[in-house]
Amino acid sequence: MDKFYITTPLYYVNASPHIGHSYTNIAADCLSRFMRLKGKEVYFLTGTDEHGQKIFRAAQQEGLSPEEFVERVAPRFVDLWGRLSISYNDFLRTTQDRHKKTVQYVLSILYDKGDIYLAEYSGWYCTPCETFWTPTQLSSPVCPDCKRPLEELKEKNYFFHLEKYRPWLINFIKNHNGFIKPVIRRNEILKFLETPLTDLCISRPRARLEWGIPLPFDADYVTYVWFDALINYISAVGYWYDEKKFGRFWPADVHLVGKDILRQHAVYWPIMLRAIGIEPPKTVFAHGWWMLGEGKMSKSKGNIVDPLELVATYGEDAYRYFLLREIPFGQDGNFSESALISRINSDLANDLGNLYFRTLGMLEKYFSGEIPAVYPPERILEEKLKKLPEELDGAIEELNFQQILISLWELINLANKFIEDSRPWELARTKQKDRLSCFMYNLMEVLRIVTICIYPFMPNCAQRLWKQLRQGRGWGEVNFADISQWGLSPPGTKIEKGQPIFPRIM
Ligand code: ME8
Ligand code: MG
Repeated sequence: MDKFYITTPLYYVNASPHIGHSYTNIAADCLSRFMRLKGKEVYFLTGTDEHGQKIFRAAQQEGLSPEEFVERVAPRFVDLWGRLSISYNDFLRTTQDRHKKTVQYVLSILYDKGDIYLAEYSGWYCTPCETFWTPTQLSSPVCPDCKRPLEELKEKNYFFHLEKYRPWLINFIKNHNGFIKPVIRRNEILKFLETPLTDLCISRPRARLEWGIPLPFDADYVTYVWFDALINYISAVGYWYDEKKFGRFWPADVHLVGKDILRQHAVYWPIMLRAIGIEPPKTVFAHGWWMLGEGKMSKSKGNIVDPLELVATYGEDAYRYFLLREIPFGQDGNFSESALISRINSDLANDLGNLYFRTLGMLEKYFSGEIPAVYPPERILEEKLKKLPEELDGAIEELNFQQILISLWELINLANKFIEDSRPWELARTKQKDRLSCFMYNLMEVLRIVTICIYPFMPNCAQRLWKQLRQGRGWGEVNFADISQWGLSPPGTKIEKGQPIFPRIM
């Protein structure tokens, strides 16, 4: 059995999750479900990033110890993932033992190898980004990434040699087209790698920050939060403590991240792995940002929308559908509730909902709900049905969720047109039973195929529809390849008409 190892970022627990975090996890969930349908053994990892200055300060503000604070916030992520049906296999918290030990193990290898050295540092620090900047990188004391004020720092710290790995990394990226996606991000990183890399400061003096993983070779320091967090991708799958598991799942097939943290994943991380003699992940995919008003939706800016409220109002399936349909994966987009409502009304209530409700209603009316005998595909549907598997496979490969849905909606709209063109009420009135049966069987097959394809996007609604269709097999036995087969709707089976799946929102 093929494996598929997919990861999301580990989210900072300084505040509750917002739409942006849910976006990455919904995308990862959708892809995981496609891969399971394709028969792969999926390992889907998500979790929380719990150390560092930012979390420490957030705890202080609440008057809590960092330990108490993270215990309070981390469950909010778990709850949201439950509410959104995120089918992860593993939830890693950087405060877990398996992770802390792995980080210390990695640090000691690098230290013994001579890749880590102690030096006096003076420069500027951005706490929201948890990033150092050297004076040469700045024209004023604001963060080049997030434009917020920097804090001045002067202290002795440990550094990790990055520069000596730069030629290797450039080569690697050039020889592995699929390593950084989309291509615009790959070019950005190659551009960034044209100038020498500043070595990465990987420690914080305990005197200033206690909340971190102690360096194994110097008790006066803790590990820099980014160096700590990136290692999660190998600590989760057993690096150094479970050889078999690690051998099975590493290298990761895809690290899904937002473009805000591409550099950490496409520069620091492969170099860290190279330094300890481990293969890089196969792909780092950086998606775009959801914006609200002036800029990127973010906890520290406070311009966030609470996913739980939207889910309570519109339902989780519609919410998931909207995020993956509205903007091309990789690009930025503006969030608005009115755009969500119009997607629900046009795509879900109208196109999709009507197709199901009309089809099941006609089957009820003309055939007492019983699926007729197998008939061959009608010409108007046949061509699209033939192309569909290949179209979808290509789009899945590229994580082009929007394209998957566009392609699928072409089929849905074609089927709706087929209903109108066929004038079933006339076929019934003039008792053309054969033609009516053929018409109905075609539609039932379209419903079966569409239900399989929407399942990774809207698992709950698909599950309900699958039951209504009375398909013999449970979801575990459904295979994606079933969409290229004709005639799997079992004749003689009685369906359940049910209620419209997506009522219109007024
Ligand atoms: O960076 N639009 O955590 P974080 C789209 N702990 N996606 C968004 C988004 C937005 N407006 N805002 C956040 C960290 N995201 C580190 C990661 S990984 C080893 C450590 C998503 O809580 C997107 O995936 O700031 C982004 O990369 C991530 O949340 C950042 O989450
Ligand atoms: Mg962030």
